[in-house]
Parts: sequence; structure tokens; C-alpha cells
Amino acid sequence: IAPAIRARPIVLVGLMGSGKSTIGRRLAQRLGMRFADADDEIERAAGMTIADIFARFGEAHFRDGERRVIARLLTGRPLVLATGGGAFMNDETRALILDKSLCIWLDADVATLVERVGRRSHRPLLKNRDPGEVLRELAAIRNPVYAEAHIRVSSASNPHEHTVRAILEALS
Ligand code: S3P
Repeated sequence: IAPAIRARPIVLVGLMGSGKSTIGRRLAQRLGMRFADADDEIERAAGMTIADIFARFGEAHFRDGERRVIARLLTGRPLVLATGGGAFMNDETRALILDKSLCIWLDADVATLVERVGRRSHRPLLKNRDPGEVLRELAAIRNPVYAEAHIRVSSASNPHEHTVRAILEALS
């Protein structure tokens, strides 16, 4: 991997269940970079869970906090950053990510995503809904936007190690 790669943050985008956090953590380890999960950082900054932020303040408020947290993380020492599935849909957040990072879309088919998120998800967008239905809707809306990422890697094959290797190859 060229040293220049490590000089720029790497941001992973994609739908819920695409493996952003797991793959991001492993990728960071391989590259000797630090790792952060935007959802965890938002929860830490807010002092409450994402589910509670959605329930108490609504999605728009969450997206605003998400943008600020991602902006802060992208100005520090270069890192591998896993973002929540909706972050890249926000115009400002997306512009920031595209400008400041090397952005990778982890793409997987809906059946694989459904299998990974499971039946009872803590995720607010899946609450009381059929995950397959939600993910199909989101894929239709979001995939054309994720396609703006700099690199697309399929994360449909298990185990995630395959995807980590595919990313390392794409970077070399
Ligand atoms: C969201 C995805 C979640 C989390 C929030 C909203 C989305 O992150 O940010 O529940 O809009 O797709 P993951 O993609 O890590 O599950």
C-alpha cells in the first residue's frame, strides 16, 4: 500500500448490514491506522443512544449531529471511519466526505443485508418494520447516491475477510 493512502482518511459508506464497522476495524488494523465508528462517536458526544436521539429529537436533529461529528473526525489524524448508512445521503456530509477522504462503498444485495441485520434490530429505521421491505426501499433510493463514492467494493461474500482483502487490493 502506497504511503499516500495512509495520508488520507478512508471513509466506508453503504447500507445497514454492509459490514462497515467490522470491515473498517480490520482494515484500520491492517493499514496501521486508527479506527472510528461515527455512530459510536455520536452516541458518546450526545451521551445517549442513537435510538434515543431519534425518539426524542427526530431524524433531522440526528443528521445534523452526525454531520458535525464526521466533520470533526475528518480533520484529525487520518483514520478509517465507518459511517452510519444514512450519513452519505446528507448533501453537506457527502460533499465533506468526498472532499476530505477516500470514500469506499460497501455494496451488498438486500438478501445478504437482511441476513446480517437480523430480525430484531436496535436500529430505529428497522423498528416495527419488516427489514427486507425497509432495506429494499433504502437500496432503491440510496444505491445511486452511494455510487458517487470513489471506489465500490462488493461486501456480499462472507466472511468479511474477503472484503478486507478486496479493499486492500483496490488500494494497492
Ligand atoms: C442509519 C443507519 C445506522 C444509524 C442510524 C440510521 C441509516 O447505522 O446511523 O440508525 O439511515 O441507514 P448503520 O448503517 O451502521 O447501521
